[in-house]
Amino acid sequence: MINSYQSLEANLHDVFWATEGPPAELPLMRSFLREHPGKSLEVGSGSGRLLLPLHREGFEVEGLESSAEMIDLCQTNSSGKSDVPLHLGSMDDWKSSSRYASLMIPAFTLQLSRDPAAALVRFADWLQDGGTLYMSTFTPLAEMLGELPAGEWYPDHQTELADGTLAVIHTRHQIDATEQILDREHRYEIFDKDGAILATHESRQQLRWFRREQWKQHLKAAGFRIEKQFADFKPQRKSLKEAIVVTTIARKIVG
Ligand SMILES: C[S@@+](CC[C@H](N)C(=O)[O-])C[C@H]1O[C@@H](n2cnc3c(N)ncnc32)[C@H](O)[C@@H]1O
Repeated sequence: MINSYQSLEANLHDVFWATEGPPAELPLMRSFLREHPGKSLEVGSGSGRLLLPLHREGFEVEGLESSAEMIDLCQTNSSGKSDVPLHLGSMDDWKSSSRYASLMIPAFTLQLSRDPAAALVRFADWLQDGGTLYMSTFTPLAEMLGELPAGEWYPDHQTELADGTLAVIHTRHQIDATEQILDREHRYEIFDKDGAILATHESRQQLRWFRREQWKQHLKAAGFRIEKQFADFKPQRKSLKEAIVVTTIARKIVG
């Protein structure tokens, strides 16, 4: 199954993000929510890595998530203290029964949509007039430039778990530069101290990417006006010329 976030991929999601250091998008989302108050929905809220801290800080946030396992993890991680509203559904067809003041789609999750341009149109529908959207996107430059080998398994990440076992991800990708689709297979493995495999899981992801001008057109077509953009999760980095990661804040235009 594509983009399904089950089994070891769900259980190890936060552990592997933690190897990158403190969550870079959390302060950005906090500032976004302060500047744009009101009920907000995180699309692809996963195990609550970003959603739960924001909810505990008192922001009025909800989560939309397509993986039942990730929703279960989020409920477990909230350990009964937090009753954050979670919706099981896909950004590709979910119907919202309320209108949000803002939407947040961090961690490049919009690129997991089977049609990000259509998802943006749907997002506009979930927002109040004048509502705002926070999204982060990336360009798979290493794959495009051939710095990572296509069609071959390569070691991607590894980290020691709290119980002393080792979690490892191997990745193999194919890239279609014409269709702008990156197809990635991940093999998750857990090894004990003697190197014996304790668990394994394979998953497949399809990510779509767009050039900056194309994102701009898709946002405009969905009824959004870009208000702010910056590179590499650093609000002071306004130049997007060399940017691999771009964060965009856009407003739904009224009328
Ligand atoms: C990269 S993870 C990010 C999770 C969370 N936002 C975070 O930063 O920790 C992407 C999440 O989006 C979910 N997802 C993937 N496709 C989705 C879809 N079509 N609709 C809703 N959620 C989706 C996955 O199950 C996964 O939990």
